[in-house]
Amino acid sequence: MPPIGGAILLIGGGKMGGALLQGWLKAGVPSEDIYVVEPGDEQRSALGRAGAGHVIASPDELPPGLTATTLVLAVKPQLMDDVAPLYRGQVSELTLVLSIAAGKTIAGFERVYGEDTAVVRAMPNTPASVGRGATVLCANANARAEQRTLAQQLMRAVGEVFWVEDEGLMHVVTALSGGGPAYVFLLIEALADAGAKLGLPDDLAMSLARTTVIGSGELARLSSEPAAQLRRNVTSPAGTTERALNVLMREDGLQALLDQAIAAATERSRELGR
Ligand SMILES: NC(=O)c1ccc[n+]([C@@H]2O[C@H](COP(=O)([O-])OP(=O)(O)OC[C@H]3O[C@@H](n4cnc5c(N)ncnc54)[C@H](OP(=O)(O)O)[C@@H]3O)[C@@H](O)[C@H]2O)c1
Repeated sequence: MPPIGGAILLIGGGKMGGALLQGWLKAGVPSEDIYVVEPGDEQRSALGRAGAGHVIASPDELPPGLTATTLVLAVKPQLMDDVAPLYRGQVSELTLVLSIAAGKTIAGFERVYGEDTAVVRAMPNTPASVGRGATVLCANANARAEQRTLAQQLMRAVGEVFWVEDEGLMHVVTALSGGGPAYVFLLIEALADAGAKLGLPDDLAMSLARTTVIGSGELARLSSEPAAQLRRNVTSPAGTTERALNVLMREDGLQALLDQAIAAATERSRELGR
């Protein structure tokens, strides 16, 4: 990662904040440029072991006069309204505010830090904890090109990064990639269950289902072919896979189910104001 040229202030060093910190250190961000505020004793010890330079329990311990180049907000959404205002003093007109909190809108941060503040909202997902996340970013008009690039670099440290310009699409993003890992884990469970019902020992069925999903994901990642072609590559005419796909791809099959599932999650996200 190119030099950030200033302080990153990370608020909340839990699962996602901790993963980000590790990603940044691995990408070469100097630890002395990162300040982490984290009230949990255990988390603070873990962050210290991971190589964080400054790990403190409260904003009162920040160096006086510190202005953040980037303020990264990584506390639970329900705490955000109380926590975000505590860092007004560290935000200047040059600061990028980057929030990873599900459902917290750009307008909310503009109200806290000022209408002219550069804000980027991020929606990562849990594979970020192993550096393989999918993060979608959405910026306000105040975010300059270099701040958008900075936000992208900071999230790139935990996986792939994509952009949407319309913040309303974050509901669909939440439904698709936010919840997506759960659907894939369900696929592993369901494949294993189906195999076990037809006589495979439970542990063998689970190992096969898990390894197949992992291997297929890796193949999709490394191959230049689109998913539909990779599927066709496994499907010989009149063979066994085709028989299964005839069931999965019928009108009320997997696509219809996923249409309903993603629409339901999108609707729930809207209800929650997320
Ligand atoms: N995990 C994911 O896969 C995922 C995916 C998408 C978005 N996100 C977003 O990421 C954010 C963090 O989620 P998470 O899963 O990392 O949660 P988490 O593990 O609970 O991390 C949040 C951390 O914030 C700390 N904290 C509490 N009050 C604080 C305060 N006043 N100042 C600074 N830190 C404080 C918590 O400490 P204590 O535990 O001691 O209270 C905890 O370590 C959430 O807004 C969530 O919506 C997470």
